[in-house]
Amino acid sequence: MRIGVLTGGGDCPGLNAVIRAVVRKGDGVYGHSFVGYRDGWRGPLTGDTVPLDVQAVRGILPRGGTILGSSRTNPYAAVDGPALIRENLAAAEVDALIAIGGEDTLGVAVRLHAEGVPVVGVPKTIDNDLSATDYTFGFDTAVNIATEAIDRLHTTAESHHRVLIVEVMGRHAGWIALHSGMAGGANVILIPERPFDVDKVCAFVEARFATHYAPIIVVAEGATPIAGTMVTKDGELDAFGHVRLHGIASMLETEIHGRTGRDARATVLGHLQRGGTPSAFDRWLATRFGLHAIDAVHEGDFGVMVALHGTRIDRVPLAEATRDLKTVPEELYQEAQIFFG
Ligand code: F6P
Repeated sequence: MRIGVLTGGGDCPGLNAVIRAVVRKGDGVYGHSFVGYRDGWRGPLTGDTVPLDVQAVRGILPRGGTILGSSRTNPYAAVDGPALIRENLAAAEVDALIAIGGEDTLGVAVRLHAEGVPVVGVPKTIDNDLSATDYTFGFDTAVNIATEAIDRLHTTAESHHRVLIVEVMGRHAGWIALHSGMAGGANVILIPERPFDVDKVCAFVEARFATHYAPIIVVAEGATPIAGTMVTKDGELDAFGHVRLHGIASMLETEIHGRTGRDARATVLGHLQRGGTPSAFDRWLATRFGLHAIDAVHEGDFGVMVALHGTRIDRVPLAEATRDLKTVPEELYQEAQIFFG
C-alpha cells in the first residue's frame, strides 16, 4: 500500500514519534510505502507532498513540532474541498490516510471517511480533551513545562510578596491547569468548567499572605468569571470557528490589585507549553499510537482512531471519538480545592 500521513491543528510534542513509528513498522514489517502531506489538510487539499521513508524519520523521536508541518485548514470550508482531496489522493496513488490531530482534524477525518476516504485517526492535543482516550500525547510534556514554571514563580513570588498568576493553555478543558496546579502547589486553580468568583479568589490570596507565603494562581486560558464574558485577544476566528483566547491572567492581575491593593503580576506560558522535546511518557504513548495506527491501516480497518485505555491501545470508531469533549469532572476539581487558599 501507499499511505499518506498528515499532522493537523495545533502542534504538539510527540507528533514526530508517531510519524516515525508508523513509517518504521509500515516499511519494516509490512513493506508499505509512504507520502507525507504538508501542513495538515492543506496538503491533500492542494496536493502538497513531501517524501516520507525510513531515512526521513531517522533522529526525529525526541524532536518537538512536526516534520510535516501543521495548519488549521478546514477542507469543508473550501470550495469543492473533499472532491479535491479525493482527486489529489488518486493522483498520488495514495490508498489510505493516517490523520494525526485533535477534535477539528479528526472531525474532518470522520466526514471524509463517511464519503469513502480510507482513513485512520491518531489523537493529539496538549489539552487532553478527547473523551475516547485516557490520555493524548503532548499533555504530559505541557504539564511538566507548566509545573516547572510554577516552581520557578514560587521563589520570586516569595521574594517580592507578590501574587503571581500563571495562564496555561486549555480552551474548553482545564486539564493542564488542574494537573500542573496540583503538581506545583498552586493556591487557586481556575478552569473553564467552573466559572469563578473574583472575590473568592481575592480571599484565597489574602489567606495565603496570612501564612507568610505568596500566592500562585494557575488559570486556564478559557476560564471565565461568574456572570462575565470570555476575554479574547482580538475576536478573530480560525477556520473551525474558534476564537483566539488570551488575556484572563492580565484581567485577574488588574482585578486582584484593584480589590486587595496587592502587587499582582501575570505570566502567560502560551506556546512554550507546546514547544521542545516530548517527555518520556509522550514519546512512549505517541510511538505506541503510531504502531497501532499502521496495524489498523494494514488490516483495512478504516474509520477508527487509536486510543489509550489503561495501558492497552484500542481502536474506537472515529465518529464516537470526536463526539464528546472530555472536561474536568467536579470530583477531581474538589480534590484540588482542598489546597486552595
Ligand atoms: O488545541 C491546542 C491549543 O494549544 C489550545 O490549548 C489553544 O487554545 C490553542 O491550541 C492555541 O492555538 P494557536 O496555536 O493556533 O494559537
